[in-house]
Amino acid sequence: MQSDVLDPGLAAVGQPRIDWARRTMPVLAQLTEVFAGQQPLAGLSVAACLHVTPETAGLVGLLTAGGASVQLAASNPLSTQDDIAAALAANPGVTVYARSGLDRDAYYEHLHRALDGGPDLVMDDGGDLVNTLHAERPDLLAGKHGGGVRGGCESTSTGVVRLRRMAAAGSLAFPVIAADASTTRQLIDHTCGTGQSVIDGIIRATHTLLAGKTVVVAGFGPCGRGIAERARGLGSQVIVTEVDPVRALAAIVQGYRVLPMEAAAPAGEVFITATGSPDVIGPAHLEVMRDGAILANAGHFDVEIDVRALAASAVELNPAVRPHADEYVLADGRRLILLAEGRVVNLVAAEGSPPAAMDVSFAVQALALTWLASGEAVPAAGVHAVPAAIDTQVAGLALAALGARIDVLTPAQQEYWESWRQGS
Ligand code: NAI
Repeated sequence: MQSDVLDPGLAAVGQPRIDWARRTMPVLAQLTEVFAGQQPLAGLSVAACLHVTPETAGLVGLLTAGGASVQLAASNPLSTQDDIAAALAANPGVTVYARSGLDRDAYYEHLHRALDGGPDLVMDDGGDLVNTLHAERPDLLAGKHGGGVRGGCESTSTGVVRLRRMAAAGSLAFPVIAADASTTRQLIDHTCGTGQSVIDGIIRATHTLLAGKTVVVAGFGPCGRGIAERARGLGSQVIVTEVDPVRALAAIVQGYRVLPMEAAAPAGEVFITATGSPDVIGPAHLEVMRDGAILANAGHFDVEIDVRALAASAVELNPAVRPHADEYVLADGRRLILLAEGRVVNLVAAEGSPPAAMDVSFAVQALALTWLASGEAVPAAGVHAVPAAIDTQVAGLALAALGARIDVLTPAQQEYWESWRQGS
C-alpha cells in the first residue's frame, strides 16, 4: 500500500513540527516507552480517520511503537497539514491518505483505501470510517485475522450519536469506545483546552480587552464551563445561558449569573455559543444587542448563531475588518462583529486544543484500543464508555508528567474501605 500525500518532500518541514508537539505530550511519551517494550498491538492493523496534525502524529507514533501498522485517512481535508502528512508517510508501518482541500469524493476514496487491508481495529472522528466500513465494505468486517474487527474508538460526540443509532438498529458489528465522554478528556481537553483556545481565537480575531467586558456563554457543558472560567479569569463579568436545570444550577453555585438569552442579549458585549443546538442566537436576540457586540461559536457545527438572519438584517457587510472578523452594519447603525463566519472559532481563528490537552485525549484512545485488542473482558458489539481504570491510569501519567505526587491509601485504610464495600 502506498501513501497518497501532496508532496513527500514536505516531510523535512513537518518532522520538526511533530517533534515540537511531542515534547509537550508527556503522557504519550511515557506510554510510548511502555508500548515499545510490551508490544500490545503486535501484528495488528489499525485503520484511522483523524485530523492530520502534529498532535495526531504523536498518537500514530504510539500505536506503531506498540507493534501496529496504521492506515491513516484525513478526517477533514480542511484541517489536513500536508507537511505533517508527508512526515508521517515517511515512517515504516504507516500509510497516509491525506491531501489538504480534497473534495468529498476524494475524501471517501481515501477512507476506502485506509480500510482496504482489512483492519483489526479502527479509530474514527465523526463516524464516517465506521459507517463506510459497515455500509460499503461489509466483507472487511471479518477482519484481517478472520476473528472480526476487534473494536474501535470514536473521538467526537457527533460520531457517538451516529454509532448509537447504528447500535440501536442492530447493525454495529463490534464494540466501540466513546472516548469523548472520558472524565480526564472532558476535564483536560474540553474544559482546559477548548476553554483556552476559544478565548485565544476571540482575542486573536479582535484584539479586544476582555477585562471588564460582559461575556455571555451559552451552554455550561465541559466546553462552556471552560470558556466561562477563563473569561472570568481575565476579568470579564460572565453570564451563562442554559436549558438544563442541573447545569444552570451548577453555573449559579459557581458564581455566574444565569439568564435566558432573551435577557442576556441586550447586556452582553461578547457572545460565545457552546451548546450543540441550532439558532441559540436568533433574530430576536440580534435585534436588541449592543453596538459592537462580538459573536463567536465554539460548538461543533456552524448552526448556533443564525448567520442567515444576521445577513438578512444587515444593510452593509464589511468582510474581514480583521482576519476572521466580519462586521455587519444594521439598519439602525449598530455594528455586530461575527467571528469565523459562525464556524468553530478556536479552530478557525486559533489552533484548537493545544498538544498538551490532546496528549490526554489520545492516551485515552490508545489505551482503549489496546484494551479491545487484548480480548480481556471485551464488551459486546455496541457503544461503550471508557473503562474507569483507563481514566485513572491516564490521570496518573498526567500527574507524573506534572511532577505532582498524591497520597496513597495505607493498608489499614484499604482494609477499612474493603469492609465497607463488603457491607460488614
Ligand atoms: P455538552 O452537550 O455536555 O454541553 C452542552 C450544554 O449546552 C448542555 O448543558 C446543554 O443543556 C446546553 N444547551 C443546549 N441547548 C442550549 C440552548 N439552546 N441554550 C443554552 N444552552 C443549551 O457538550 P460540550 O462537551 O460542552 O460541547 C459543546 C459543543 O462544543 C458541542 O457541539 C461539541 O461538539 C463542541 N465541542 C467543540 C470543541 C472545540 O474544540 N471547539 C471541542 C469539544 C466539543
